[in-house]
Amino acid sequence: METLCLPAGEESLKLACDLLRQGQVVAFPTETVYGLGADALREDAVRASFAAKERPADNPLIVHVADRRQLEGLCRVTDTAEKLMDAFWPGPLTLLLEKTLAVPEVTTAGLPTVAVRCPQHPVALSLLRQCGLPIAAPSANRSGRPSPTKASHVYEDMRGRIPLILDGGDCRVGVESTVLDLSGETPCILRPGAVTAEDIARVAGGCRVAASVMHPLREGESAPYTGMRHRHYAPRAKMTVYVGAGERVAAAILARYDAEENAVILARESALPLYGDRRVYSLGETPEEGARLLFRRLREMDEAGASLILAQGWKAEGKALAVMNRMARAAAFDVIQLPD
Ligand code: TXA
Ligand code: MG
Repeated sequence: METLCLPAGEESLKLACDLLRQGQVVAFPTETVYGLGADALREDAVRASFAAKERPADNPLIVHVADRRQLEGLCRVTDTAEKLMDAFWPGPLTLLLEKTLAVPEVTTAGLPTVAVRCPQHPVALSLLRQCGLPIAAPSANRSGRPSPTKASHVYEDMRGRIPLILDGGDCRVGVESTVLDLSGETPCILRPGAVTAEDIARVAGGCRVAASVMHPLREGESAPYTGMRHRHYAPRAKMTVYVGAGERVAAAILARYDAEENAVILARESALPLYGDRRVYSLGETPEEGARLLFRRLREMDEAGASLILAQGWKAEGKALAVMNRMARAAAFDVIQLPD
């Protein structure tokens, strides 16, 4: 199959809608990462998206909608969910809600809940409005690869597998949406994103973060978040993340770098001069910049053939939780905590 990669515009959007209505798979930009869209209510379309990604069938998809009205008939919207939608939609917040029979089991991997989100990107919104379908969209990477934050990343992973990629430029947020479980008394974050626990608590009166966000599952422990069972955000290189006072982190990274062959450094912009002429990549300065750049840097460092990534992280809290969750997973939880 030939894969077209077209700038998002009137004509390419129309083509995307036609393809989606035929049950085909189309990649499109959202404010978080690129998604691999398919008609959420059509089993064959959803299966095609699982196949293009090589995604295990037991990992459910997020259903994207143009607005709240489109949820009618798909799920039961609770009062807390209403409040959260008022505050954060359109935006990077995914809610888990009890599903109706209208949503096929393939979309939710047999779960009784469906994940729903209204994205904030103008191209995603135009596409959803124009095609009028709820769109199931996992991140548009091949399973196990870092999520795509540029159209060229999608092309690398999906070339020959899907008919169309809509190019809407670089994604603003850079890590996937916050996934929020609303089944308990207090909302619980299963995957942290740009909408933080503090943001949610202000609206919902409280918010927990699942322990599995920063810790590997223990033997025999069941995954609260189905995505946890699967390998994620894995660069080809091994990776270690260092957190703590800047000069201590730099000293630890330098010692390790100089003792290894073929290592690269991923560090705060302001720390780059500390590493002299070693192979170093910038993660920006703030946790938000880090989130925007991380997946792109992981791809670049893989391309450069690095075998070890030595990364400077942030303290895993507040706005930094999202980027640190991805860094910890990319490093298979090899996170070294140095004194502050
Ligand atoms: O920002 C995002 O959320 C992006 C863009 C494209 O919208 N999408 C995305 O989709 O990250 P995906 O499929 O890569 O990640 C969705 C995660 C999966 O790991 C899945 O396990 C979890 O959400 N999920 C989906 N439905 C669920 C459900 N009913 N219960 C628990 N977890 C669910
Ligand atoms: Mg994904």
